[in-house]
Amino acid sequence: MDFRIERHETPVSEDVVEEIWEMWQRVPEQVGMGSHISQLRDDLTNVTRPEERKLLYTARVEDHLAGTSLIWISRRDPLLCEFGLPATSPEFRRRGIGQALFNAPVGDFREMDGEAIFLGTNHPPAQRVYRRAGYRKLVGSITLVNILSGDTPEAYFEDYFRGLGPATVHPGEAADRTPAVPLVHSAHDWQVMDANVGSFSRRYSVHRGYAGQVGRFIQLLDGDASTFFAGRAGRRGKVVGLSTAVLRDADCAVDAFTHHRYADVWRSLMEAAAAWGAENGATGSSAKVSVEDEEKRALFEDAGFTEAGYAGEFLLDGMHLRDHPNGRSVSAIRLERP
Ligand SMILES: CC(C)(COP(=O)(O)OP(=O)(O)OC[C@H]1O[C@@H](n2cnc3c(N)ncnc32)[C@H](O)[C@@H]1OP(=O)(O)O)[C@@H](O)C(=O)NCCC(=O)NCCS
Repeated sequence: MDFRIERHETPVSEDVVEEIWEMWQRVPEQVGMGSHISQLRDDLTNVTRPEERKLLYTARVEDHLAGTSLIWISRRDPLLCEFGLPATSPEFRRRGIGQALFNAPVGDFREMDGEAIFLGTNHPPAQRVYRRAGYRKLVGSITLVNILSGDTPEAYFEDYFRGLGPATVHPGEAADRTPAVPLVHSAHDWQVMDANVGSFSRRYSVHRGYAGQVGRFIQLLDGDASTFFAGRAGRRGKVVGLSTAVLRDADCAVDAFTHHRYADVWRSLMEAAAAWGAENGATGSSAKVSVEDEEKRALFEDAGFTEAGYAGEFLLDGMHLRDHPNGRSVSAIRLERP
């Protein structure tokens, strides 16, 4: 039985949203479809993530919807995109539909001169289909990357940050989501890139979720008690550093990290977070730093922070099993600046 692949630009009609929802109810695997249609509807009608161009792919066998996939193309940097919504309805599997749904956006994005497609997956059966579509796994992460030039992800990530000129600091925006993926997924020399959002370097800790790695920074924009700043560089506004600020009463917890080539912007990023705290009622700033991240601690101390005691542990590469930490615990110290 033949199938055909169709491409739709969002927003799509309510009928299409409902048809997709209905198909996904028959997909038994838990691969990221929310528990209510509203999330899907909001994404496919551009209520959420309007800062990205979305191309939806559907597979049809006669009149039946047999599968879907989607790419979110960054409007800030249209050379980067993310892939998602991948499934074939169980009754139509093992006839090449999944492969066609994974391949079609790769081909289209290549025609748009795209550079890289990112996604996260833990689902073993999908791995071969992804690999055949050109995706490769990052070390220390469940993230897959399709580098359309054929370079390795490692080479691409290294080149991505070369020669961008000076970085400048800006209030964080939802549009930083995809442009921040290379930074947050680059193995950093520090164990803890950002303590406020639990962002650890994949050099020391395996990234088990994909979207959350950057999503947790974007979520700081919800509500009034937290925010983030982005260091951006070059014509494409590549994100080369991030800082965060989280208010707790009169204290503003700050943190910051940059790509190693843009260490110069660390201080301005951190100070932007601290200044935001002061503008929003904080009387002082604090930071939580791994005892092994001595370079980061020195940067905070150069900026006037002083040690204020033990601050608990970072669980670097593990999880809590029945409430017991199972992984590598590293002590943290608290630094403060009035
Ligand atoms: C992953 C998924 C999309 C694949 O869908 P699919 O339509 O079955 O994919 P394909 O038919 O292209 O390929 C699947 C297998 O069928 C085989 N196949 C393809 N055409 C075939 C045919 N005509 N006859 C027999 N087998 C065939 C492929 O070689 C492939 O085999 P292998 O991977 O075991 O080596 C589907 O299993 C699915 O929806 N899974 C749940 C959701 C999911 O995991 N999504 C990814 C999460 S990030």
